[in-house]
Amino acid sequence: MTAANDDAGGARDADAGGARDAHAGAPRDDGALRRDLAAAVGDAHVLSDPALTAPYETDWTRRWSGRARCVVRPRDTAEVAAVVRVCADHGAAIVPQGGNTGLVGGSVPAAGEVVVSLTRLDDLEPVDLLAGQVTAGAGVTLARLQEHVAAAGLAYGIDLAARDTATVGGTIATNAGGMHVVAHGTTRAQVVGLEAVLADGSVVSRLGGLVKDNVGYDLPGLFVGSEGTLAIVTRARLRLVPRPAHRVVALLAVDDLAAAVALTAHLRPRVAGLTAVEYVERAGVDLVVERAGVTDPFPGSHHPAHLVVEVAGQDPPTEPLAAAVTDAPDVRDVAVADDGPGRSRLWAVREAHTEAIAATGVPHKLDVTLPLRRIVAFRDALDALLAVRWPETRLIVFGHLADGNLHINVLGADPGGAEPHDDRLDREVLELVAEHGGSISSEHGIGRQKAAYLHLGRNDADRAAMRAVKRGLDPDGRLNPGVLFPPSGARS
Ligand code: FAD
Ligand code: MLT
Ligand code: ZN
Repeated sequence: MTAANDDAGGARDADAGGARDAHAGAPRDDGALRRDLAAAVGDAHVLSDPALTAPYETDWTRRWSGRARCVVRPRDTAEVAAVVRVCADHGAAIVPQGGNTGLVGGSVPAAGEVVVSLTRLDDLEPVDLLAGQVTAGAGVTLARLQEHVAAAGLAYGIDLAARDTATVGGTIATNAGGMHVVAHGTTRAQVVGLEAVLADGSVVSRLGGLVKDNVGYDLPGLFVGSEGTLAIVTRARLRLVPRPAHRVVALLAVDDLAAAVALTAHLRPRVAGLTAVEYVERAGVDLVVERAGVTDPFPGSHHPAHLVVEVAGQDPPTEPLAAAVTDAPDVRDVAVADDGPGRSRLWAVREAHTEAIAATGVPHKLDVTLPLRRIVAFRDALDALLAVRWPETRLIVFGHLADGNLHINVLGADPGGAEPHDDRLDREVLELVAEHGGSISSEHGIGRQKAAYLHLGRNDADRAAMRAVKRGLDPDGRLNPGVLFPPSGARS
């Protein structure tokens, strides 16, 4: 399935930067390609048996899949560079892949690309306590990184429910957000420098850990959020944050999104050390109870909405949080935990959403940001849109409320099909987001899913500049064709 659709934006952005379709006219001698790749990384790390390549060919959502020409698993930066050069020699396009937990179809092949899996680049250097930094391979998972730096008394500022599988390289390529953006910013704010292989096989390396280093363009900064379309990230130098001695989690029941926004506005200036302000609704809580075995935090109460609030500090933060909540308007119910198992129980109400939705079906999944002052109006307009256009659907909304980030999941819009084939729903919701002054891609990226809608998030001048960058760094369009920009030949 491709992201091509009826929208004129597809035509406007097609053939990104004039980059040629890497497959068009390319000589296809798979035997010779595999032989040269095997010479670069070893026979065992070039996979072409469909039973072995299958896990690399379908993404986490099951919405996106395609056949790979082969899957190659390099071990270090030099091997990645060699792989890129071999692919260039054979006219083969590349899809970089980390943990394959991406949600917008950017990590899997569409039309016979070579999948370059980065999971074997898993070296972790000792923590540099003086600088408060660490250097990690692109394939290191977030969970392993957190464990490694915790042993040195520090923490990494990014955390996601996909922590056991999502990688340093993938989170950099998508500029991942997650639960703690309110405290530490997105992945961009954690990246001090990185090493990356460019489309011609050359290597850019900025791993010295210099916080101040203004020598012209910030190439590592450019690669953060570039979704594998400009370079393959192989290592990163990451900023670390203090590991708090105490953490408390509170689940606060409220009437609706408007009350949750008002509560967020109340807590933000009053509570020092806020590390998460997350939003869930009744429909999602019912689903995680039903599908993920999560315990209902307030059995029988059926509260319409909740905030999950986490506060961290070197002193116990329970009392200051309790004082702020006592003064807060319209909190219907409160559950608090300051011990590990209790915190995990409350967090599960929020974190189990993605898995519970996936266990129910393949949703239309839209990850958007709204200005907080317009988020309620947007939510009302979304309900109205679905009631008129897709009345039989089931809507699950949750997200990172302090960041204005809503995750919109619509189940049952494609009767008769296991996959969401009808892109009109995606388009109409994203148009609504743009009308409300929001962003069509908050933290998951554009991928293949939203490539045709780039014009809803960037104007002509922005997109022309982006295409110029792509053309400059990847003139043959070999890195992740069809991701971020629509594939050449996309239907208009
Ligand atoms: P992949 O899925 O393998 O790849 C993602 C993109 O990055 C692709 O375009 C790929 O080509 C590119 N890429 C991967 N590695 C490299 C590399 N080394 N160099 C260049 N390009 C590369 N995301 C959030 O932002 N916040 C969340 O809270 C969040 N929660 C999630 C919860 C669940 C249960 C799941 C399944 C996903 C969640 N995600 C979340 C989405 C996903 O985990 C992130 O997008 C993550 O950054 C992807 O990392 P990955 O290693 O799996 O990358
Ligand atoms: C999350 O915050 O849980 C995610 O970004 C995943 C999702 O949107 O399903
Ligand atoms: Zn999220």
